Amino acid sequence: MSQAVKLIDALNGTFGRHYGYRASHAKGFTAQGRFCPAAKESRVQIPMLNNECKVTARFSVGGGKPGISDKSPTVRGIGLEIRKGSEAWVLTLISCPVFFANSAAQFRTFLAARIPDPDTGVPDPKLVEVFNEANPNTVPHQQYLKSVAPCRCYSSECYHSGHAYRFDLSGRDIFARILLEPESGRLGLTKEEMETLSDEFLHDRFLEKLCDGPARWSLKLVIANDSDNVSDPTVPWGGAHTTVDLGTIQVELPDDRAESTKKVFDPSRMPEGVRAPLDGVFSLRSGAYAESAARRSV
Ligand code: HEM
Repeated sequence: MSQAVKLIDALNGTFGRHYGYRASHAKGFTAQGRFCPAAKESRVQIPMLNNECKVTARFSVGGGKPGISDKSPTVRGIGLEIRKGSEAWVLTLISCPVFFANSAAQFRTFLAARIPDPDTGVPDPKLVEVFNEANPNTVPHQQYLKSVAPCRCYSSECYHSGHAYRFDLSGRDIFARILLEPESGRLGLTKEEMETLSDEFLHDRFLEKLCDGPARWSLKLVIANDSDNVSDPTVPWGGAHTTVDLGTIQVELPDDRAESTKKVFDPSRMPEGVRAPLDGVFSLRSGAYAESAARRSV
């Protein structure tokens, strides 16, 4: 059995298999917009990003359940396809600065520990505790999500790559994580909103936001310091970091066309100037996304 099949079996095993939906980030919707380059020329050369580019974005709630609540304490995601001509940069970013696993085996055991108990319908907290004790590197992801309120709107969320990509900065090889920083700053739900909002507010709230004008984020590189771990997306980077502003992601209109809603945001698509991360997770993704896409339609 291929690794991709095992990874998607693990997702389906925990969340169920739902016809027509992604195995992960099942609940979501798509929109379109553009990338506008930063006014000042960047010291990082990614030629495609010297131009205005088209963008397809998909906003999602983490996990493989299409009916998950928009108030749930899981990650929010954005899939981005930034394209110009035949080149594209596909980024899939989450609302947590770090990922929850650093290998295929850890991804699968993380999910196995969260298979709902048939009696209670929710994961057995003892199994989760045992997993966490044996896998302390996965805890910062869970701690971060406990420390913040779920976002008020997809437009007021920060999104992160976890992976450290490789770039050329004025002739020097660097590693950097990707950060999408909202124009509004990050805004979490208030206590009152947690109590009164329905489980389905994110789509309509985002469309209301678009009626007043585009949603905007700065697309930034967060450059690794020498002490940062660049080969493990579960490890937080502490302290101050130099950032490079690449430009603005501007989301303008909802986009229900099948070519957008069915899009596979395969992060192995990178333009000239961007090199793949060197961790134990990135290379697993393309195959897993293809397997999920194949299962969406059967
Ligand atoms: C072992 C590593 C991973 C596996 C097996 C995995 C698996 C998946 C799968 C199966 C999908 C649905 C694909 C589709 O049907 O189109 C998905 C979507 C997504 N993943 Fe991952 N993932 C991994 C790592 C990551 C990482 C490191 C991030 C970001 C930090 C991430 C963020 C996302 C996002 C935002 C989506 C939604 C994309 C969309 O809207 O289509 N994933 N993932």
